[in-house]
Amino acid sequence: MIYTAKNKAKILIRKLETTDFLKLNSYLENLSEASKKRFGPHPFDLTSILAFYEHGYDTGYIGYDLDKEEIVAYSIIKNGVLDDDNNRYTNYNLPLNQQTDVTFAPSVADTWQSQGVGDTMFQFIHAELRKTQAKRIILWAGVQATNEKAINYYKKNGFKKVGEFSTSVENYDMYLEV
Ligand SMILES: CC(C)(COP(=O)(O)OP(=O)(O)OC[C@H]1O[C@@H](n2cnc3c(N)ncnc32)[C@H](O)[C@@H]1OP(=O)(O)O)[C@@H](O)C(=O)NCCC(=O)NCCS
Repeated sequence: MIYTAKNKAKILIRKLETTDFLKLNSYLENLSEASKKRFGPHPFDLTSILAFYEHGYDTGYIGYDLDKEEIVAYSIIKNGVLDDDNNRYTNYNLPLNQQTDVTFAPSVADTWQSQGVGDTMFQFIHAELRKTQAKRIILWAGVQATNEKAINYYKKNGFKKVGEFSTSVENYDMYLEV
C-alpha cells in the first residue's frame, strides 16, 4: 500500500526483500542512539541481517520513501515466540503458542517518527496477519517503561499490558488478539 505522509511524501509499505538488505543496513546504522536502545531485534551489520533472514522464518516489513528511494521504517514479525517472552507469559498464566502466536518489533526513522508512518505500517501488518493463522501479537522483549511514544502507539493499536519485568531497565509486556 502507498501512504501519503503529512509532508506529501509517498511511502510504500511492503514486505522486505533480499534486494533491500543494503538499504536496510544503512537505515539501521543511521538510527539515533536513543532509537537503537529501544529497537534491537538483531544486530545491524549486513552479515547479521543476512543471517537473520536466511532461514526465511521471520518477515520484515518496510516503509520506503518513493522519491528519496530510502527506507524510513522497518518492522519484524517473527513466527512464534522467544523463550524469554514465553517464560514470562507462562508466569502471567497466559501460556503462548509457538504455532499461532507471533512476535512484533517496530521501528521508524527518527526524522519520520510521530507522523503516522508507524500506525500505517501496523495497520498493514495487522491486515496481513488476519489472513493467516496468527491469534496473538506479542511484543519482542516487551517495551521499555520509559518509552512513552511506543507505549502510546501500542495502546492506540489495541495492545493490552499483561505484566512488568526488569532487565537493566523496567519493561512492560503487551499483546494484542489478532
Ligand atoms: C514507536 C514507533 C514505532 C511509533 O511509530 P511512529 O511512526 O512514531 O508513530 P505514529 O506517528 O504512527 O503515531 C502513532 C501513535 O503513537 C503515539 N505517539 C507517536 N508519537 C508520539 C510522541 N511524540 N509522544 C507520545 N506519543 C506518541 C501516539 O499514540 C500516536 O497516535 P496519535 O498520533 O493519534 O496521537 C516509533 O516512534 C519508533 O520507531 N520509536 C523508536 C523505536 C522504538 O521505540 N520501537 C519500539 C520498541 S518496543
